[in-house]
Amino acid sequence: MNNYKEIIISQDKNFTEKDIKSIQNFNRVFKDNEIQLECDNNRLIVLLREIDLNVLQERMNKILIQCDSKESFQKIVPSIENIRSFGINGNKRVYVDYNKERKVQNRELKEEKRGQYYYAKNNNFSKINKQIPDRFLNKIICGDACQVMQEIPDNCIDLIFTSPPYNFGLEYQQNQDDHYWEDYFNNLFKIFSECIRVLKYGGRILVNIQPLFSDYIPSHHIISNFFIQQKMIWKGEILWEKNNYNCKYTAWGSWKSPSNPYLKYTWEFIEIFCKGNLKKEGNSDNIDISAEEFKQWVVAKWSVAPERDMKDWGHPAMFPEKLVERALKLFSFQGDVILDPFNGVGTTTFVARKLKRNYLGIDISKEYCKKAEERMRLLNENVGLFSVK
Ligand SMILES: C[S@@+](CC[C@H](N)C(=O)[O-])C[C@H]1O[C@@H](n2cnc3c(N)ncnc32)[C@H](O)[C@@H]1O
Repeated sequence: MNNYKEIIISQDKNFTEKDIKSIQNFNRVFKDNEIQLECDNNRLIVLLREIDLNVLQERMNKILIQCDSKESFQKIVPSIENIRSFGINGNKRVYVDYNKERKVQNRELKEEKRGQYYYAKNNNFSKINKQIPDRFLNKIICGDACQVMQEIPDNCIDLIFTSPPYNFGLEYQQNQDDHYWEDYFNNLFKIFSECIRVLKYGGRILVNIQPLFSDYIPSHHIISNFFIQQKMIWKGEILWEKNNYNCKYTAWGSWKSPSNPYLKYTWEFIEIFCKGNLKKEGNSDNIDISAEEFKQWVVAKWSVAPERDMKDWGHPAMFPEKLVERALKLFSFQGDVILDPFNGVGTTTFVARKLKRNYLGIDISKEYCKKAEERMRLLNENVGLFSVK
């Protein structure tokens, strides 16, 4: 016998013969271990185990044409959407027994004993947050991020979203992208130290990294290790699935032999760290993420296609706007100050502005900064000025 999560939808009058027929049709389409409907006088009972909400919505559209009690049937999908805890199995949401195998006896006690993020305790971060000076507010600044940031006060940035040069040998305008690895990481860590300093207490830094797999350099681990040593709290890791591998199977490594097979990746990483506190201060009026976006995006594998128009912007490694949109809506409030110290042609600053955040973008290339400004000008012409809360 299946065990279900029950939702009851009541109405003033009894369900009709036509409603009962619709319920029977519905039950024939879905399996016992997915969803079933029952009715009892004026109560519609939803028996739920697991369901693909898109498939359910499609079916409901058909049922609504056939039944009498449309208002009650219309409530089924939103009531299911309102259930906040569920497991995921392919396209389906699982509402029963999804965490059975994870049950730990006396979990809270054990958690208390173990302690969380022990590596970030006893930090010296100041809890006094400041306003960013006007000369840095909503600006694109051309210069070396390390030098520019030295002028920015401590604790005045809410969120940093960035992608450093990867040291792959890409053809950037201004800087070389092929340093010795030690020099590369030393320079990067100077900039990341400044990033930590300027972040507010409770602020977040999200770093998109593609390790150089072919050189066996796990940049995402090396960079994460740096943040952990600086006593930042590791909030998590997003796997950015780009589905874009185009290298031949046999390009590196051994073909059809265990001697040295080469692993292939179609994804990059986004490492997320918090300064001092996992919780971020913010006004609930300034939340702009929808319930559906929230449910989808907290699943930390994001399938987002890479930017297709890089040639038009003349930059070899741009963010797709959709990626920035997810990061900003999930981790920041409207009116927050967003910084990208490797702003390139300004995808972060563009999306920040579009989503009513304040921004500061820094890049070493004059050419890229000009393009980032141009993008902002086009946006301002289209949307008009908004008032920053
Ligand atoms: C991976 S790209 C970022 C692209 C950006 N996300 C976008 O959507 O356009 C890295 C950028 O870092 C810039 N850069 C490299 N070294 C820098 C430095 N020391 N200070 C500031 N920018 C730097 C490069 O010019 C390049 O545009």
